Amino acid sequence: MESVKSQTKSKERVRDHGEVFTAEREVKAMCDLVKEECERIDSRFLEPACGDGNFLAEILKRKLGAVALKYKSSPADYEKNAVLAATSIYGVDILQDNVVACRARMFEIWDKHYTAHCKSYCNDQTREAVKFILQKNIVCGNALSLKCVDDKGEDIARPIIFSEWSFVSDSLIKRRDFRFDVLLKENADPEMYGFQLSLFGDTADGSEYWMIDPVTKEPIPKPVKEFPPVYFRRVQQYD
Ligand SMILES: C[S@@+](CC[C@H](N)C(=O)[O-])C[C@H]1O[C@@H](n2cnc3c(N)ncnc32)[C@H](O)[C@@H]1O
Repeated sequence: MESVKSQTKSKERVRDHGEVFTAEREVKAMCDLVKEECERIDSRFLEPACGDGNFLAEILKRKLGAVALKYKSSPADYEKNAVLAATSIYGVDILQDNVVACRARMFEIWDKHYTAHCKSYCNDQTREAVKFILQKNIVCGNALSLKCVDDKGEDIARPIIFSEWSFVSDSLIKRRDFRFDVLLKENADPEMYGFQLSLFGDTADGSEYWMIDPVTKEPIPKPVKEFPPVYFRRVQQYD
């Protein structure tokens, strides 16, 4: 059981960034409101002001609980699905120290469960893969401007990028990187489409950011980068 921790770090941080951490009881109660989703191994969660990960940590624990229930008799299946659980959780925070703490906390939880369940089957490459996934998924940025920030929390001219991780076979993961600002406009009314494009500096036809879904014929976000499928223990091969 985690010890009870203070909900604030300093008056300045509360004043400048509204940093007040949510107590464990409220975190659990709120996660209970979406209990089934928290227990669905591949359901994607994003916390846009994640702090040091109070919600993300609880969601990860619940997902890993579901992995254990389903795959307790097979370390190989447990491992793959525990990696899948890690790929599905995303966070943003404007303060670098929170981001670093959040990633470390998530890894500690993940590794504790992995070690307990997989024992001698555990593999350090998998641990490195999960650290890499958390590094990509928990990002330092401004969730209002959708830009990355420097160590003072000031916006820099780089959009927040999120990686989508998909198992494309039993053991291969494919990663595609997307701009967060484009993802948020996924459901844009096509009537507004031209206007939305101008937000990104407008290319003539928007093809830098969007592509047409061959099935629905609707515009969908275009990845800024795609990587070849890779064995799930080696996702860190492509930075
Ligand atoms: C109220 S705290 C909540 C932290 C965490 N979600 C929790 O419930 O314990 C708000 C968090 O948002 C972060 N924050 C403030 N402004 C932000 C912004 N524009 N973009 C991203 N994070 C921001 C702060 O650093 C702080 O960690």
